[in-house]
Amino acid sequence: MKRHLPLFLFTTVTLIAVYSQPGPVTPEELGSDLGIQVFNQIVKSKPQENVIVSPRGIASLLGMLQFGADGKTKKQLTTVMRYRMHDVSKILKKNNKAIMSRKNKDIVTTANAVFAKSGFKLEMPFITRNRDVFHSEVRSLDFENRTAASSTINQWVKNETKGMIENLVTPDIIDSALTRLMLVNAMYFKGQWKSRFQPENTKKRNFNGPDGKVYQVPMLSQLSVFRSGFTSTPNGLWYNVIELPYHGGSLSMLVAIPIEESTPLSAIIPHISTKTLQSWMTMTQKRVQVILPKFSAEAETDLKEPLKNLGITDMFDQSKANFAKITRAEHLHVSHMLQKAKIEVSEDGTKASSATTAILIARSSPSWFIADRPFLFFIRHNPTGAVLFMGQINKP
Ligand SMILES: *[C@@H]1O[C@H](CO)[C@@H](O)[C@H](O)[C@H]1NC(C)=O
Ligand SMILES: *[C@@H]1O[C@H](CO)[C@@H](O)[C@H](O)[C@H]1NC(C)=O
Repeated sequence: MKRHLPLFLFTTVTLIAVYSQPGPVTPEELGSDLGIQVFNQIVKSKPQENVIVSPRGIASLLGMLQFGADGKTKKQLTTVMRYRMHDVSKILKKNNKAIMSRKNKDIVTTANAVFAKSGFKLEMPFITRNRDVFHSEVRSLDFENRTAASSTINQWVKNETKGMIENLVTPDIIDSALTRLMLVNAMYFKGQWKSRFQPENTKKRNFNGPDGKVYQVPMLSQLSVFRSGFTSTPNGLWYNVIELPYHGGSLSMLVAIPIEESTPLSAIIPHISTKTLQSWMTMTQKRVQVILPKFSAEAETDLKEPLKNLGITDMFDQSKANFAKITRAEHLHVSHMLQKAKIEVSEDGTKASSATTAILIARSSPSWFIADRPFLFFIRHNPTGAVLFMGQINKP
């Protein structure tokens, strides 16, 4: 991670917002709300560090996993994501198209992939739904050589993020005997400010770190018309908000900063949701002198504990996970879920990228089949299908 300690405060509330229609909450917003809640969990344990997450990356991965889940595992995913099942695929598909529309083509790219152990047989609907909704292709990968497997994944990620995310996974998180699948999402964003900052106006200024220290950092500056204003949390903590739009008109960076220096970000973050962001977009445009650090920051997040805290627990538990819609041959569970994200802000605009992965492994102990209750038996001639004997045993 690059050491830009003074910028920690800023980056934590820098969110890239995609405009949404007012009205009913969309699955896209629900997915982002989950990501914001994950972020809220993470910053609690890292109040003084840079934290960067991609809500959309998390939602995409969970969306892919949900197609393979069944029973309570699926219920937890859909409950926490607040997805109602039948229409969600169609809407996600439509939104994917909107976010990556021709107008945004050079700006946002997303790629999803399922890397499966060579020869591993996947349930067909899992493959087709992921292809249909997430454009996710299945590739086969030999996990026995952990170095080669992690390098294949990292190469794929690096390519899809145009070099921004390197080394998403290390060989030690792959189990050469038990790893069956890796689901991966990569996202890349490049936006040019609609109103650029002049390089000659960039000057070193003081930035007050959360640790009480003052740091000299390069700050961008411009006087221009922006949507901005101030608002407060329900418990009366005031903060300023500004919208910095990107060229093309559909993407913006929104920056929020508490008005009182004594108000920590942690007092504001729990009150932020997609609805809050939407409400910021109703602020009026006015002339504002903006001063914003020029920065670059990268962070890696283990998503397992935050997701468990939010109620997605079973999929991580080898005795409870139910991924029967991925395969019925073995019991799978998620051993790791990780995300790496990076952002660079300069006079010209912003580059940001993220990669998210979930690793599915088979249960290490053999599964059990205990006939300790009444059972049925059939003696079958397999080549012809003839049943030679059958029975019910109530008293062995
Ligand atoms: C694993 O893959 C690496 C890199 O592709 C290769 O150099 C190495 O020889 C392989 N190891 C084994 C045991 O096959
Ligand atoms: C690299 O990424 C681009 C999209 O960014 C994609 O079109 C291309 O197929 C990828 N190449 C490889 C080798 O995966």
